[in-house]
Amino acid sequence: MTLWGRLAIAMVLLVVATACALSLFAHYYLAGVAIAAVLALVLAAGIARSLSRPLTQMTRAVEGLSRGETVAIPSDGCGEIDGLAAAFAELTTQFGTKRDLLEKTVESNRDSVVVADENGVIVVANAAARRLLGVAPGFNSLTGTRTFACFLADDVTPMPIPDSPLARALRGENVDDFELAVQPEAPAARAHVVANARPLRDERGKLRGAVTILRDVTGQRRAHQALVDSEKMAQAIIKSSLDAFVQTDEDGVIMDWSPQAEALTGWTREEALGVKAVELLVPEPDRAAHRQRSALFLQEAAGGATGMRYETRALHRDRHEFMVEVSLTVLRRGDGYGYIVNAFVRDITQRRAAEEQLIQAQKMESLGQLTGGIAHDFNNMLTVITGTVEILADGVRDVPHLAKVTQLISEAADRGAQLTSSLLAFARKQPLQPAEIDVNELIREAVRLLSPPLGRQIEIETALSGEVWPAFVDSSQLTSALVNLAINARDAMPLGGRLTFATSNVTLGVPEAVASGVERAGDYVAIEVSDTGTGMPPRILDRIFDPFFSTKEVGQGTGLGLSMVFGFVKQSGGSVEVRSAEGRGTTFRIYLPKADASVLQPSAQDDPPVQGGHETILCVEDDRKVRDYVTIQLGSLGYQVIAAANADEAIAIINDGAAFDLLFTDVVMPGSMNGRQLAETVMAGRPSLRVLFTSGYTDGALPLQGRVGHGIPLLTKPYRRAELARMLRRCLDPAVDPAGDPIPLP
Ligand SMILES: Nc1ncnc2c1ncn2[C@@H]1O[C@H](COP(=O)(O)OP(=O)(O)OP(=O)(O)O)[C@@H](O)[C@H]1O
Ligand SMILES: [Mg+2]
Repeated sequence: MTLWGRLAIAMVLLVVATACALSLFAHYYLAGVAIAAVLALVLAAGIARSLSRPLTQMTRAVEGLSRGETVAIPSDGCGEIDGLAAAFAELTTQFGTKRDLLEKTVESNRDSVVVADENGVIVVANAAARRLLGVAPGFNSLTGTRTFACFLADDVTPMPIPDSPLARALRGENVDDFELAVQPEAPAARAHVVANARPLRDERGKLRGAVTILRDVTGQRRAHQALVDSEKMAQAIIKSSLDAFVQTDEDGVIMDWSPQAEALTGWTREEALGVKAVELLVPEPDRAAHRQRSALFLQEAAGGATGMRYETRALHRDRHEFMVEVSLTVLRRGDGYGYIVNAFVRDITQRRAAEEQLIQAQKMESLGQLTGGIAHDFNNMLTVITGTVEILADGVRDVPHLAKVTQLISEAADRGAQLTSSLLAFARKQPLQPAEIDVNELIREAVRLLSPPLGRQIEIETALSGEVWPAFVDSSQLTSALVNLAINARDAMPLGGRLTFATSNVTLGVPEAVASGVERAGDYVAIEVSDTGTGMPPRILDRIFDPFFSTKEVGQGTGLGLSMVFGFVKQSGGSVEVRSAEGRGTTFRIYLPKADASVLQPSAQDDPPVQGGHETILCVEDDRKVRDYVTIQLGSLGYQVIAAANADEAIAIINDGAAFDLLFTDVVMPGSMNGRQLAETVMAGRPSLRVLFTSGYTDGALPLQGRVGHGIPLLTKPYRRAELARMLRRCLDPAVDPAGDPIPLP
């Protein structure tokens, strides 16, 4: 029954009771009034009770609800109250559902959400906030002791609590995108967060609390930092790279240009940016091919290929061309549209030159080995021929036609000897006798020698440096090298011209030494021989040092002149360079090592009459024919001879106690020791022993690659009887030669 129904019944009962009371008034007036009043009171109390109980229960429920408790809405079946309770229960359910949703939303948020009341006491802290900050509802954010170490304002400085975003919002401030770090207790890692905070006000605008939301951006920060680092690293690589770096878009328009690119090409960064690389760097004739190659490369890049390497010609700002190696990589642009092409460009001009130099050197080396080997055997044969033909000539002196024949043999053998000596010179195996020489003096002498054969049409000039250092070189070989160059110059100036000899001092550092091909970095004497002749095109220039290469008519040139010059200079530790252009003359530049001060002056060449002796000579020679010939020659000069075929045999003879005055040994010998080692071994027991070496060529057995310096006497094959006799006396006689110069003892 509804509340109004109940009230109506109570009123009716009151009226009925009043009517009854009035009718009985007469009899029971007082008693009736009393009963009616009691009834009315009981009824009113009952009604009041039934009205207030559900209301009280509802009030409690609302209070419970405001505390966040789940409450049951009472119902006593009474109409209006029941309806009110039902409507209220419905409202409560809806409110609870929304609150649940809100709570779950906040709780599950990945950002930390913290709500505090106006006193700073936390009323909401979701899971993320509890994890990050270690705070829970009930914690006073303004006064409580934190479980995390601190907020860091600039990643370093601890932040005072009043500066924290929540505290600022509690003072009524809006905080937007404020970056700070949270340093939890060790060992947890520092977190970087972005904070937003707002004050919370009621409908009257009174501050009731504040909310702060912290977004953890540690991951993004790390990723961003990694990106910054990698960009920095890429820039550092580009900066420190030896190669030039050029970046273009897919149309070849330059987007980046490193300082090395500026140095390599002559174009500054400002000039290069925005220009098409092909127009700046590629010589006109190569542009079409370059464009084709780029298009192909981009096509392949679309298919997944990422890199390419090639060598090409490049153009400098000053229009000179040079060789480069290009290494390309392609990247798809970040926005997905088009490509970026990164190129590292390396100047390989020097590498190419070095490769060509190496190939040339290897070619010369193998040619040298071949010619050297042949010349060595020839020399031994010629030694026998030139030696024995003299004996023959003595025997047939009275038979003119036979004497003529022996002379022909002798001349042919001489020419053969000349040829082998040229070949050995080229093969860098001719025995050299270097000494400290004054190149200016030698050139003056050579000019005197050359003037008549060069003729009047050729004017000889000298530009000799007064300060030039002495060179350490074989003077007779240097003279013949200069003569060779002069004759070539003459042939290149059929209508006359000017031949210039110049000298200077040069100090070569390692790169220059490598570039010019000398043995080592250091001081050199440079001799330049220039002519104003025809010059040479590159195809000839490439081959002029090859043995037997000649452009002269058959019979006019052997093609060995420059080969000898080349071999001799290289063997001397120097090098030879040539510059020439067709119609513009030629310049040969020879580098000779500077003599060190301790080198002995050479002894003057003398030509005394043949003089024999009576001493005993231990002759060691592996070639039987040569050994027999030498034995005969030594015998004819009056010497006693003990012959040995190799070092071991010689040592055995010595150990047997044979007495001898001089060891005459070939340098290059098969077996356990060469001539030099044999001499060293024997001299270890007999330091004063005289030694004379002989050799047709050297294979490095003598010090300094065949340069016999510092007083090792050497008789070069083939030799004549008179030379043998003279050298023996120089070794055996007291230590002054007929010219008065000291004779070096071994
Ligand atoms: N000064 C020069 N000017 C122009 N061409 C030269 C000059 N010197 C050398 N040549 C060229 O180099 C070639 C080789 O020279 P090289 O001296 O080795 O041999 P050759 O002169 O031909 O013969 P040979 O020296 O035996 O008489 C010459 O044939 C010539 O073509
Ligand atoms: Mg020549």
